[in-house]
Amino acid sequence: MDRDPHRSRRFREDLEANLRLVEALAPVHCRDCGGYHLERARRRARGPTPEALDRPEMVRLLRDWLAERPPGQGALALLIAGSGDTNLLATCAEALDSAATAARYTVLDRCQTPLELCAAFAREHRLDVRTLRMDMAAPAGPLAADVIVVHSLLRFLPRGAHLPTMQALRSWLKPDGIVLFSHRLMGHGSDGRDEYGSAEPLRRLLVDAGLRIVTSQEHVEDPALIQGRPPRHRVLMVLRSVR
Ligand SMILES: C[S@@+](CC[C@H](N)C(=O)[O-])C[C@H]1O[C@@H](n2cnc3c(N)ncnc32)[C@H](O)[C@@H]1O
Repeated sequence: MDRDPHRSRRFREDLEANLRLVEALAPVHCRDCGGYHLERARRRARGPTPEALDRPEMVRLLRDWLAERPPGQGALALLIAGSGDTNLLATCAEALDSAATAARYTVLDRCQTPLELCAAFAREHRLDVRTLRMDMAAPAGPLAADVIVVHSLLRFLPRGAHLPTMQALRSWLKPDGIVLFSHRLMGHGSDGRDEYGSAEPLRRLLVDAGLRIVTSQEHVEDPALIQGRPPRHRVLMVLRSVR
């Protein structure tokens, strides 16, 4: 049964295969992840909500930006900063596929496990993907990207690292590039994370980092579709460098 009407057939993730690979890799690579990648792979393979809430809108925003991109610019350089698994890579591949855009993907994570998942996905779908292990709390550049996708990465970093991390990402943007920035809003987390409860402090952070907010929208899960748990709430923005 296809539980996700939005997932493209061509770039469908194999969540069962991902889970099997993570089960093999996590004991070797996931020493500092606190079980995150294994728990995520299990949840997505078995749970009722395998997709990011804003996936369809991310695809739409990427396609809109691509439609405006002047021709003759060569292959698009797209950086995923914090990959989790194959979700963001599949999302971006789906968006770029319909625009027939040649792309070179860089998938960055501090853990090798999601990078191995993305490498396998790239082989299967013939995508040009390089993987990069990097701790975004201490980013080491330079990189150069037309599109940088940041999906809840800041939740994993200490608050003091948020500004330098976003400044580093801005410095990696090519002149007409964009950051596709999505973040979950949730108040103080039960696991002790210092969370953002609303979009406003995030907006201030991004402006302080030298980024201009081009579009901003919020997505809240429909309570009728979830059984009793708090609805997920995300903010999704397109950002450009002010410089
Ligand atoms: C940013 S999220 C990506 C998942 C995304 N929210 C989604 O729905 O597809 C989680 C990823 O960030 C990675 N991560 C956490 N801290 C990091 C750091 N300091 N540097 C780079 N990657 C990090 C984790 O290893 C994990 O794979």
